[in-house]
Amino acid sequence: MIRKSLIIANWKMKLSPREAFSLTRSIVPYIRVAAGARSRNSFVICPSFESLSCVGMLLKKTPIALGAQDCFWEQSGAYTGEVSPTALKESGCSYVLVGHSERRLYCSESDSMIAKKMAAACETPRLQPILCIGESLAIRKKGTYRSYIQKQLEAGIALIPRTKRVQFCVAYEPLWAISTMGIGLPIGPEHCAEVTTWIKTLLSQKLPGAHVRIIYGGSVDSENVMPFLQRGVSDGVLIGGASLTVRSFKKILTVLNQ
Ligand code: 13P
Repeated sequence: MIRKSLIIANWKMKLSPREAFSLTRSIVPYIRVAAGARSRNSFVICPSFESLSCVGMLLKKTPIALGAQDCFWEQSGAYTGEVSPTALKESGCSYVLVGHSERRLYCSESDSMIAKKMAAACETPRLQPILCIGESLAIRKKGTYRSYIQKQLEAGIALIPRTKRVQFCVAYEPLWAISTMGIGLPIGPEHCAEVTTWIKTLLSQKLPGAHVRIIYGGSVDSENVMPFLQRGVSDGVLIGGASLTVRSFKKILTVLNQ
């Protein structure tokens, strides 16, 4: 079986429903080609909540999966403004981002909230959470990034039973590599490989029954995407800025097709 890399577009809060619809309509034909039968890649688009239905409509009967950018930890109840994992599944989502650094920073999401979200998403059939972790530049400079990431990882999976056969992804996104947050430069593939290999080792000890893919995010574009997809570096990429225009998204698809 071919090992497929996961290519995930995170549109954050950057597009209105009208813009998300228009970008999806323009880019789907190209992604369809890139995701053809012999493709080494599979694709996911994560628009914001209010665009899930219009983007999802365009993704129906395509090989492109729909993802959400967040979920709540309960499946229903008096939680004004929240969206449950079950509701996301019913809205067509197969993936959901959990604990993105922007949510940790701007919405004060704590490790314990993220653990509950991860557990709730893992309990939802055919919905895969993507746990986002990554250190700040200050932590990287201090050299304590391994222990920091380990703490985030262990906290994020704390409520998943050790032997459970769950499927999820971990996105390693160092804050300082995210285009809108840090210095806007991706990390090197060697550094990425070092961290993803280590995360894999930790997970094989903590959750031996789990099937986990480790992906990378942070300033990924057409110029730098390929080295991240090499075996041993990562199982895919999470792309923000470069997935927001037809032109830059198409450039990535062209490189992936080569
Ligand atoms: P950029 O690709 O714009 O750096 O964003 C990365 C990200 O935060 C994806 O979740």
